Amino acid sequence: MTSIISLHGVTRRLGGEAVLQDVSFSLPAGQSCAIIGASGSGKSTLLNLIGLLDQPCHGRLVLDGNEAAQADADQRAITRNRLLGFVFQSFNLLPQLSVLENVALPLSYRGIRLASARQIAKVQLEKVGLEPRAKYRPADLSGGQRQRVAIARALVTEPRILLADEPTGNLDGDTARGIIGLLTTLNREQFMTLLMVTHDPAMARCMDRCLLVRNGGVFDA
Ligand SMILES: Nc1ncnc2c1ncn2[C@@H]1O[C@H](COP(=O)(O)OP(=O)(O)OP(=O)(O)O)[C@@H](O)[C@H]1O
Ligand SMILES: [Mg+2]
Repeated sequence: MTSIISLHGVTRRLGGEAVLQDVSFSLPAGQSCAIIGASGSGKSTLLNLIGLLDQPCHGRLVLDGNEAAQADADQRAITRNRLLGFVFQSFNLLPQLSVLENVALPLSYRGIRLASARQIAKVQLEKVGLEPRAKYRPADLSGGQRQRVAIARALVTEPRILLADEPTGNLDGDTARGIIGLLTTLNREQFMTLLMVTHDPAMARCMDRCLLVRNGGVFDA
């Protein structure tokens, strides 16, 4: 099977220490994979590299057959919008925009007209159960609701790769299971590659594979 994500000898130093050291692994297209590891082990660092929000100090990152890490900023932004959805640990919603506008934003970056973008965003909000909050600002939502908006925004472009940093960390059990059900269905039915940081062993067991980040390395767990 073709790899959609490959890391070759990737090292990332932060604050004078190697958070990731000579990391190599590949994910076949369509795989679902949990990332586990202690707090501070480098899970978000790893996701930020794969999500092209950060660049390795050494090594190569190949996304969908293209050398991605060394590309210039414009090219990385294009790849992010075309290929990737990202659910951040801290949501990163834009406070001045409504819920609907936040979800529609990645579509506007693609040049989709406002009316269509809003319509598509509305459908995506329904899928995470937040359509009734479409006009709210992020500040007027609960933590779990913000998390679901972030998930809707990441999914609205129908990305081939979804990177999710503890996407259900703030959700109650039932809502979390609903979100994981949505993500695993997209993984199976749309062949969306799913790479998800989680502290929950039950969530990790729902994935095809589990990677452990420890002591700067990434290992099959
Ligand atoms: N900008 C930075 N400058 C210096 N050190 C950093 C920076 N960003 C992260 N680190 C360090 O890198 C290490 C890994 O951080 P990272 O956020 O990847 O951990 P994590 O595995 O996602 O943890 P958590 O489970 O708590 O989210 C931590 O020790 C952190 O202090
Ligand atoms: Mg983290």
